[in-house]
Amino acid sequence: MTANAAKVWFDGKLLNEDKVKVSILSYGLHYGWGVYEGLRVYDTPRGREVFRLRDHMVRFLNSAKVLRLDIPYSVDQLSSAVKAVCRANGPRADYIRPLAFYGENGDLSLSALNVPTHVAIMTIHMGKYIKGGSAGASLITSSWEKPTSRSTSLTAKICGNYVNSIIAKKEALRQGADEALMLNHSGLVAEASAENVFMVRNGKIYTPGVSDGLLEGITRDSVMVIARDLGYTVEERSITRAELLVADEVFMTGTAAEIQPVRTLDGLPIGKSVPGPITKRIQSVFSKAVKGQAEQYSHWMDLIDEMPI
Ligand SMILES: Cc1ncc(COP(=O)(O)O)c(C=O)c1O
Repeated sequence: MTANAAKVWFDGKLLNEDKVKVSILSYGLHYGWGVYEGLRVYDTPRGREVFRLRDHMVRFLNSAKVLRLDIPYSVDQLSSAVKAVCRANGPRADYIRPLAFYGENGDLSLSALNVPTHVAIMTIHMGKYIKGGSAGASLITSSWEKPTSRSTSLTAKICGNYVNSIIAKKEALRQGADEALMLNHSGLVAEASAENVFMVRNGKIYTPGVSDGLLEGITRDSVMVIARDLGYTVEERSITRAELLVADEVFMTGTAAEIQPVRTLDGLPIGKSVPGPITKRIQSVFSKAVKGQAEQYSHWMDLIDEMPI
């Protein structure tokens, strides 16, 4: 037993990571038959706080519903478990990963009958997701198409869906870019590999709607609230790649990437190829919100140390 091993909350118990046992025959491993979440922890004047904890837990349960994956815990129980793991793993843990997946039934048949489920919550240290991205990220349009909402649920964070995201992200990295822009089956902008996409044109903010095939990002929602509070018009509508190329500003949003300005798309500069004024304004309010410095958005933050272990 490693005394300082990271702790994982696994099926209701807080265990040392090296004590968690999962069968090699797990359906989750073979077929990506599971769902996950990603949350960030921030230092605030009140202590360490989780950003939009309950919203993430609600999405987690909704994702599980789509796979008929039974998570026998409520939003409150999952939220308490998240806090317990964060407390156990200390201040370096800045990213939380809840995962629910199908285990094994001694069979690998796609009938997948009587398969038990497991729920795990772990943390890692993530730091900045897109390294060196402060000056703006470079994007390529992926040659891989985003699956349609008729092939899978894109509203749910289904593990297996992320094979598509990973091959696109790796394609971008191989070409020296930071991120991949994914187009949907109609050739319209869907999202990036793990971020939603926004563009600014003539002072208005646009982002594709859910029917264009994207995850309803919680950061996307936060940005729409902040932008509207700042007095901007935010419109959800289909966006073409050609429009992005002539946008004044483009930025991406995600729990991992936070608010990430985009500098280039397919080698062409976006606007002046530096983070634009509207992006910076929203970024600044978002950064205050997650640092607990914006009273208006304090309901988005959940203190980790509120409850005893
Ligand atoms: C495919 C995809 N799109 C968008 C996002 C951004 O969502 P959120 O802001 O909830 O992290 C994520 C990250 O979870 C994602 O995986």
